Amino acid sequence: MSFKEDVVTGLEKERKELSPKYFYDQKGSQLFDQICDLEEYYVTRTELEIMEQSLPEIVDFLGEESLLIEYGSGSSVKTRMLLDELKKPAAYIPVDISHKHLQQTAETLSQSYPDLEVNPVAADFTKPFSLPECSQAHAKKVIYFPGSTIGNFSPTQAETILKEMAHLCEPEGDLLIGVDLKKDRSILESAYNDSKGVTEAFNLNLLERINNELGANFQLDQFQHQAIYNEKQCRIEMHLVSQKEQEVLIEETLIRFEQNETICTEHSYKYSIEEFEQLAQKASFQLKKVWTDANQLFSLQYLSLT
Ligand code: TRP
Repeated sequence: MSFKEDVVTGLEKERKELSPKYFYDQKGSQLFDQICDLEEYYVTRTELEIMEQSLPEIVDFLGEESLLIEYGSGSSVKTRMLLDELKKPAAYIPVDISHKHLQQTAETLSQSYPDLEVNPVAADFTKPFSLPECSQAHAKKVIYFPGSTIGNFSPTQAETILKEMAHLCEPEGDLLIGVDLKKDRSILESAYNDSKGVTEAFNLNLLERINNELGANFQLDQFQHQAIYNEKQCRIEMHLVSQKEQEVLIEETLIRFEQNETICTEHSYKYSIEEFEQLAQKASFQLKKVWTDANQLFSLQYLSLT
């Protein structure tokens, strides 16, 4: 489905929605990097802290000559920590939907690690894709999926992605994955409603992108960012709330909004360690090790097919 078809289909639904994968144009990727630096957004900070504390052990799990495949390569701070310590990595394959961001990341990483083969893949990792040829043989494939991006998919979609991962790295692949944990509503809601309004700008950028790329006429000041924790579903829900009754034109398609009607733009599911372990088992991944912070805010998990 094209960007336009996807947008129109989502906005014509009874409950309007837009796919979060479209957040990440150039500006969206930059705003996301800013979110990661926010004080309220504990996710990135805590994952980094866990990595700093346990890096030697993590690197031991990866072993020598592993092929490192990163899903949603982002700005690569955590990747650098791994690459700095990894023993003779066979190659590094960043997989990302944002073409430009990926290219930049790949170039700067190649400069920092001149001996490392960096083979970027521009792909939507929710769909099957194939790995590029690498010049060096590898001991095993290890998929690195940080940032709790897995939480941005429903448990059913997450199961499909985990199965695709298993398929990609068979017969003896591993998975190093960041999984955000269940916690107090107040911590969660302020993480996704920061006081500087960066998350709001990130959310609204989706409408701006639709305006720019599809010639739509969303009035950005007539939609408000909202993030609430749905305790029953165990997820943060991000919405854009229409501030009035209004109509928006996307090329020839007219979309009507009631006052306070929302567009759901993202879910971020939170798991207990046991819940995620059970989910991963459905894709044949066995949990080998969990690292967490002192407050149990976040977890970094090592799973293996063998
Ligand atoms: N996966 C992370 C999370 O859910 C990061 C993330 C994705 C995010 N989209 C976001 C964070 C939107 C804030 C807003 O927390």
